[in-house]
Amino acid sequence: MKKGSPVMKATPTHRLTVMSPSADATTSLGMTVGRRLAIGHFVALRGPLGAGKTCFAQGLLAGLGVRGGGRSPTFILMYEYEGRVPVYHLDAYRLKGPEELLEVGFEELLSAPAVVILEWSDRVTALLPPDRLEVELEPVVGQADGRRISLTAAGCQHQVLIAALDLGR
Ligand SMILES: Nc1ncnc2c1ncn2[C@@H]1O[C@H](COP(=O)(O)OP(=O)(O)O)[C@@H](O)[C@H]1O
Ligand SMILES: [Mg+2]
Repeated sequence: MKKGSPVMKATPTHRLTVMSPSADATTSLGMTVGRRLAIGHFVALRGPLGAGKTCFAQGLLAGLGVRGGGRSPTFILMYEYEGRVPVYHLDAYRLKGPEELLEVGFEELLSAPAVVILEWSDRVTALLPPDRLEVELEPVVGQADGRRISLTAAGCQHQVLIAALDLGR
């Protein structure tokens, strides 16, 4: 390395953990993230049933300018919305296997000019794009409405997204 050239340090901006005290707070966090989403972003949501994945996704959709969005796609594999950009909201909960996701054209969605939001992403890990935002929601023991929400960026595009979030820190 040349003397005096800048040294890039790995910054810890690729992971954020937030405590949410209520469903509204989770939706509002989703909205903050949703406002930053753009074509090519992929949001993978995990956490047990009732953790708040759909609640967070409703916020994402609102932040993406989708009106009246956020039906739970648990019984229907995929909803398509038109917000600032096209948005696909999917849920892998009822899938028998990853093949079913491929049958609805999942691979085409990954290269579509759209934002993709997927609940129960841990059920189809092998199909996830390497550049993505992972959102994990965990219930907090002893706090009925408490959730620990961690946002982790895998890949450059989503690291930039996390770095741009202003969560009032
Ligand atoms: N902090 C919180 N964040 C999200 N949901 C919460 C929270 N506290 C309570 N809840 C409730 O938990 C449930 C979450 O449901 P949902 O978002 O459909 O979960 P999932 O999609 O993970 O199965 C809702 O009934 C919501 O009102
Ligand atoms: Mg759900």
